[in-house]
Amino acid sequence: MSAPPNRAAVRAAVTAWCDALPETAAFEPGRTPVPVSGKIVGTAERLAMVEAALDGWLTTGRFNEAFEQRLAAWFGLARALTVNSGSSANLVAVSSLFSPRLGCAAMRPGDEVITVAAGFPTTVNPILQNGAIPVFVDIRPDTYDIDVARLEAARSPRTRAIVLAHTLGNPFDLAAVSDFCARHGLWLVEDCCDALGSRYRVADEAPAWQARMPDARDPSLWRPADDAPRERHVGAFGHFATVSFYPAHHITMGEGGAVLSCEPDLAAIAESIRDWGRDCWCAPGCDNTCGRRFDWQLGELPRGYDHKYTYSHLGYNLKISDMQAACALAQMDRLEEFVAARRRNFEYLSERFADCQDVLALPRATAGSAPSWFGFPLTLRPEAGVDRVDMLRWLDQHRIASRLLFAGNLTRQPYMTGRDYRVAGSLEVTDRIMSDTFWIGVWPGLDEAMLEYAANRIRLFLGRDFD
Ligand SMILES: Cc1ncc(COP(=O)(O)O)c(C=O)c1O
Repeated sequence: MSAPPNRAAVRAAVTAWCDALPETAAFEPGRTPVPVSGKIVGTAERLAMVEAALDGWLTTGRFNEAFEQRLAAWFGLARALTVNSGSSANLVAVSSLFSPRLGCAAMRPGDEVITVAAGFPTTVNPILQNGAIPVFVDIRPDTYDIDVARLEAARSPRTRAIVLAHTLGNPFDLAAVSDFCARHGLWLVEDCCDALGSRYRVADEAPAWQARMPDARDPSLWRPADDAPRERHVGAFGHFATVSFYPAHHITMGEGGAVLSCEPDLAAIAESIRDWGRDCWCAPGCDNTCGRRFDWQLGELPRGYDHKYTYSHLGYNLKISDMQAACALAQMDRLEEFVAARRRNFEYLSERFADCQDVLALPRATAGSAPSWFGFPLTLRPEAGVDRVDMLRWLDQHRIASRLLFAGNLTRQPYMTGRDYRVAGSLEVTDRIMSDTFWIGVWPGLDEAMLEYAANRIRLFLGRDFD
């Protein structure tokens, strides 16, 4: 007879293997790369992934359930649903707004969605994929987020939603955007892929606009207890929030993301779209969770048609494996520490560049927010006469990684040619950041020596001294 599987022995072996990993070599300026982003995955994550693999369950299972619950609780939202990427999260969130279950509140092809062109393409793509029309509004040069003063001019009788990312972790003006959505009965999707852990102030009283949202929210969300911080995580303000767990992001599961909502009914729509579009909500391996599997009479289907094979949405399969969920569950234990390190690194760089503001425009946190920064954006002032390509080449030569603000001006990207979109006013600032902005890393894997080196190389390029 073979011996029963011994998980403790496997755990001990994995731990010993992790303990024997070589120490990270000491930082050597000019030789060791200074990446813009990266993952920090240790023994706990490896153990969790092995544990999930030993289960042999493979698809979403107990680790996924635990992770979804923990993530939803961390946001203070009703539900979190994992998906296989942040892009899929945006696709599911936006597609959910077109669900027939929403009745007259459902969006339709040809409706308009206010957004920005300065960002990542898959924030905007689901609008096009659903046959709606993105309406691009310019951004502010200091926060890199939507210029809310331009919202009213962007609105038309066809405007039905706002879909925006919190750029590089800096929250957009949630008070103004939420108020605008409420006054005009618009849906709001917050793309938090780069902003896990960013916070935004909460009004003392439930804002007047809350009552006019297309849903009924839990008022307790807006009336924190007296001793509670008067801030909430971004993602808790819109109808849907989305997150990415790609290794560059605040926590990782390799590839992955999540859709969150404060509304159980909206989350149920998102779950259906994630899971093939089916009407049934059985977890993998389960049957008859509703207790009426052979009793439903839906649409034009024969009476009692198996609920498992009844489809109420045009769906996908965007689920993750339990090994991915196990990794992210272990990462949750380190999330606060990661966020604190990102804030610290951001502060350090802000200080190092404080006297360069004649040449470099420094980022500013949106009023009322505490960003969990994704990167440190810098914009070269045109009057400084510094060429961005020269600067980025210089950084590259010194092994300091840099990135642009993603697509820059999305309307100038080749794939947008011939697509149906509208530009509200000019995209002057968006164009400027496309030409003059870049960002460097603030992720927790960067220590002070690396940050100091990166800052000093930039200073040297600008002709500033350093010590
Ligand atoms: C703002 C934003 N939204 C969405 C995404 C897409 O996430 P993913 O790479 O997990 O698909 C990204 C990617 O970095 C992003 O920056």
